[in-house]
Amino acid sequence: MTKRILLIIGGGIAAYKSLDLIRRLKERGHEVRVILTKGGAEFITPLSVASLSRERAFTDLFSLTDEADIGHIELSRSADLLVVAPATADLLAKMAGGHADDLASTALLATDKPVLVAPAMNPRMWQHPATRRNMALLQADGVTVVGPNEGAMAERGEFGPGRMAEPMEILAAVERLLGGADLPLAGRHVLVTSGPTHEPIDPVRYIANRSSGRQGHAIAAAAAAAGARVTLVSGPVAIAPPAGVTTVAVETAREMLAAVEAALPADAAVFAAAVADWRTAGEAAQKMKKNGKGAPRLTLVENPDILATIAHRAEQRPGLVVGFAAETEKVVEHARQKRLRKGCDWIVANDVGPGTGVMGGTRNTVHLVTGEGVEDWPTMDKDEVARRLVARIAAAMPKGSA
Ligand code: C5P
Repeated sequence: MTKRILLIIGGGIAAYKSLDLIRRLKERGHEVRVILTKGGAEFITPLSVASLSRERAFTDLFSLTDEADIGHIELSRSADLLVVAPATADLLAKMAGGHADDLASTALLATDKPVLVAPAMNPRMWQHPATRRNMALLQADGVTVVGPNEGAMAERGEFGPGRMAEPMEILAAVERLLGGADLPLAGRHVLVTSGPTHEPIDPVRYIANRSSGRQGHAIAAAAAAAGARVTLVSGPVAIAPPAGVTTVAVETAREMLAAVEAALPADAAVFAAAVADWRTAGEAAQKMKKNGKGAPRLTLVENPDILATIAHRAEQRPGLVVGFAAETEKVVEHARQKRLRKGCDWIVANDVGPGTGVMGGTRNTVHLVTGEGVEDWPTMDKDEVARRLVARIAAAMPKGSA
């Protein structure tokens, strides 16, 4: 369905990506009106905006001279959603403070519609306590945030969080906000664990495994796309956190358990992390040295089983608990036993034996083991496994209680 988007383009180098965003929004059939701030107009022109949106670009010059034609109130009220991209540190500060000294900030203060911001700035500005405070205020006001992503900055040699989310990520966030109520997991909280854990041996060495986090991250992204509020608790991974998901970064199994417990209650929890079964009995405080007396002996102790702990909780047990079982032999038989032993509702079993390429790869062959029986799914991309699993989770949610 066609929706009316008011896009506010702030003054940052990422403004060029907002031109692509206009194109993507138009492709989806949305009407796009654009306010180009003075800063934004330093990076892109009203003409390029108008050519893509097929509407005149609204600038401060316009607001001063043509207020009789279409006022800032009408501009923000006639939209279904306001999107600020790039949202500069200054624009966010103005929003948080309720300033209204130009067309963009006035339209934002005058609106009664949902607002989505895509921050873009230097990592130091993003991490500055003032910006942290402003973001907390805006989120408390109900503003939705997409990004920023981590990466190289326009400034030479700078790296960190601050890159504006990609146009497709912003588009996905827009559609989630617009279509929210109709989506199958709207109003649900889904908790997902993903990635490996790192168990320290000493300050520089750790025990880990080959999990890439791809399957867990794909499940978090699919649940968000299905309208859920998603908390992703992730061990150290090299892939980006999915857009529109609250990601909590942890290292060890014990940290992962604490983060999972802190995120409860949840309607469904999917435990896709490859948690290390053991950690060293005592982490050395200093780097262990070769001392000519042979190799040190590592004593291992068992880590908490996060899945079993949560599945056996008397209080705040998620309505649906889904575990994974990576097996190298007798895949389904072991998964059936694991489902009972861990106390979870479903197990997604996959064969990670040598030569399957599942660990770290992009494809997966799984079997869904439930209380009713076993379904063998064909080999598919991890993204597709995620979408199918999320569709099954949505179908299993009790009706009308979101
Ligand atoms: O026992 P196993 O490691 O094969 O079980 C796999 C399932 O249990 C996965 O869902 C994994 O995320 C979860 N798990 C866990 N905490 C552990 C070990 C496994 O949550 N310490």
